Amino acid sequence: QLKIATIGGGSSYTPELVEGLIKHYDEFPVTELWLVDIKAGEDKLNIVGALAMRMIKKAGLPIDVHLTLNREAALKNADFVTTQFRVGLLEARGKDERIPLTYDVIGQETNGAGGLFKGLRTIPVILDICRDIERLCPNAWLINFTNPAGMVTEAVLRYSNIKKVVGLCNVPIGIEMGVAKLLDVDHSRIRIDFAGLNHMVYGLDVFLDGVSVKDEVVDKLTDPEQTSFVKNIEGIGYDPAFIRALGVLTCPYHNYYYKHRDMLEKQHKEAKEQGTRAEVVLKLESELFELYQDENLAIKPPQLEERGGAYYSEAAVRLITSIYNDTCDIQPVNTRNNGAIKSLPDESAVEISSVITKDGPKPIAIGDLPVATRGLVQQIKSFERLSAEAAVTGNYDLAVTALAINPLTPSDTIARAIVDEMMEAHKQYLPQF
Ligand code: NAD
Ligand code: G6P
Ligand code: MN
Ligand code: MN
Repeated sequence: QLKIATIGGGSSYTPELVEGLIKHYDEFPVTELWLVDIKAGEDKLNIVGALAMRMIKKAGLPIDVHLTLNREAALKNADFVTTQFRVGLLEARGKDERIPLTYDVIGQETNGAGGLFKGLRTIPVILDICRDIERLCPNAWLINFTNPAGMVTEAVLRYSNIKKVVGLCNVPIGIEMGVAKLLDVDHSRIRIDFAGLNHMVYGLDVFLDGVSVKDEVVDKLTDPEQTSFVKNIEGIGYDPAFIRALGVLTCPYHNYYYKHRDMLEKQHKEAKEQGTRAEVVLKLESELFELYQDENLAIKPPQLEERGGAYYSEAAVRLITSIYNDTCDIQPVNTRNNGAIKSLPDESAVEISSVITKDGPKPIAIGDLPVATRGLVQQIKSFERLSAEAAVTGNYDLAVTALAINPLTPSDTIARAIVDEMMEAHKQYLPQF
């Protein structure tokens, strides 16, 4: 018996996960997949669940798929719990993106004000899930994909009794794939030493067949066409003098910080012309679910790759497989720092290349981040910690402070004004305030 429970099972990403489980069945012979959702997601769950069953049937594998709204039944005796839920659905995301923009502040679901509020909505739910895990499947691994993944992992590490937690993002694997494409080589030949935080991760070195090609790859960050790496962010292209001196590979989300003004202008323009990303995704999603309903479809449709989370399954399943088999290979994950990055707390979550063992990820110590990157990373970690504490305590002043110290926020009074408006807009999902 090998059981996975997936919370937020109605997500359009579920066929990704199922594809990964099918591909890696030999190394990870899952017997039961439980997809669980809430009432509001029931229709999506049924559609995507039926597709999952067709995919598994076509592959001829003995994996039993269960669809349920009963989280306890799904968690009972699970070996792995994966989470991919969105509290408040895309409607809430739209508010996270639009409200800050009206204050001329970046509106993004995992950074700045949007990140704070997605965290405030999500953290109480994940901590509730953690309590269920303690009761129903205390030995399970929790693989969290739910954003803001760094802040959520931080909250689980600090405020729950769950130790077996790993936060996962597709950005590092997206960068690996993107670099392989840039160099026109198979991605298995690329290795990147990642360190930093979720959506604030750097590639400290990049290897092709073990030889550093970092300088060549960093140089390409001047060209946004080549180095957007994820579908949801089109970068701007860095000044060559800046990026060479920074000397490390950045991730797409760094554009919001190092290209702050340009990205803000771009967001205003996009919001006017095509809507914010939530609105674009709403359209993509309805197209996807249209496809998913086709009873002749028994594969993951390629259109899913238009979503920002491409390669998520590859990341999730290779992680689960390596934990299960004690493979000891290296993968970038969000895990407890344990001194791996000197200038961050031992007990905080970091995103870092780690050796994946049956006892979880062992982060590979880097010493410290380059001085030019260190301060921003510390500041974002402080933002995540205050946000998580505000989410747990319902302390309003702390929520304002978290936003005020965020580098994307222009002032304390603007922070308070945004918090007030967003608290009101999201109040149905913020019972702690
Ligand atoms: P989505 O809007 O489709 O939501 C997924 C499912 O979650 C829905 O079916 C919804 O009904 C369900 N849900 C909502 N509240 C729930 C709750 N309290 N308990 C259980 N289920 C609940 O979202 P999506 O676009 O599939 O994304 C899912 C999550 O994954 C989001 O948090 C998103 O930010 C995150 N994500 C993370 C990465 C990453 O790199 N870590 C990449 C892409 C998406
Ligand atoms: C990836 C990120 C995710 C993010 C997603 C958004 O870049 O790693 O954490 O949530 O894309 O994708 P979407 O298609 O929903 O905009
Ligand atoms: Mn069964
Ligand atoms: Mn991510």
